Amino acid sequence: MNKQVTVTIPATSANLGPGFDCLGLALALYNRVTFTAVATPSLTIEATGLDAEKVPTDETNLVYQMANCLFERLGKRPSGLHIQQENQIPVGSGLGSSSTAVLAGLLGANALMDSPFTQAQLLDMATAEEGHPDNVAPALLGGLVLGVMHDEQVHIEPLPIAAQQIIIVTPNFQLLTKDARAVLPTQISRQDAIFNASRLPLLIRALETADYPTLALAMQDRLHQPYRLPLIPGMADAFSAASAAGAAGVALSGAGPSLIAFAADKHEEIVGVVTAVFQQHNLTSHSWVLPIDTIGAQINILAS
Ligand code: HSE
Repeated sequence: MNKQVTVTIPATSANLGPGFDCLGLALALYNRVTFTAVATPSLTIEATGLDAEKVPTDETNLVYQMANCLFERLGKRPSGLHIQQENQIPVGSGLGSSSTAVLAGLLGANALMDSPFTQAQLLDMATAEEGHPDNVAPALLGGLVLGVMHDEQVHIEPLPIAAQQIIIVTPNFQLLTKDARAVLPTQISRQDAIFNASRLPLLIRALETADYPTLALAMQDRLHQPYRLPLIPGMADAFSAASAAGAAGVALSGAGPSLIAFAADKHEEIVGVVTAVFQQHNLTSHSWVLPIDTIGAQINILAS
């Protein structure tokens, strides 16, 4: 029987306001990839689910490219490979879909080849591909994770977080991460550095204790959001509307265009007002009220 491995990876929301490029949260929304090693030299890729039409099914496919990187590093590969992707996470939405592809390719290929690389090595490879650890670290471990870069390696710090429902609204607007990074300044003032440095520990404490009254202050940011909000039609209004409807803390999810909000209650009302704001800007949206994923990437070896 052909060896088959299934990898399931959660969506992630990076930054959460002041944690730019270092803090991320895993959410219970998943992409699943099944790898089948076949004896005949061949490559077949299929994608189903949300945004399946946006997933390349040739050698430019990111899952395949990462699997191929691992095979090249190892110096061996299966004769042929079939990759099947089942996606729940929208592509290019600020919910870590590219991180799921990077991790799935590395973890799936590693499992197919009897796991020659450690989890830490795989995380370093995934972070090198992504450029920052704030999506791949929580996608791998689940929960709230701080990723601290040290030379080329990632120190990962899983952090406690109270179980809660998280609001995500994704307007149907294309914003490439590279464009959302291009607008950021290369230098910041001391005041802005202090502004974020003081809020990040406050945010971590508030998330651990579900201290909603503190979240509005703790989720403020001066490193990226002030530059990115104007790129997304209606986003500044969506922040105000979510807060007015009862959201305790609101942030851009990753580089956007998704919005993430934390609230003690009224989750559906908050989704409703944010969706209405995007509608006023002629944008449809997807929305979710999601639990936190606490497990991270799961690997199942189905047959060997
Ligand atoms: N921390 C990254 C950013 C996440 O905000 O650009 C998106 O990949």
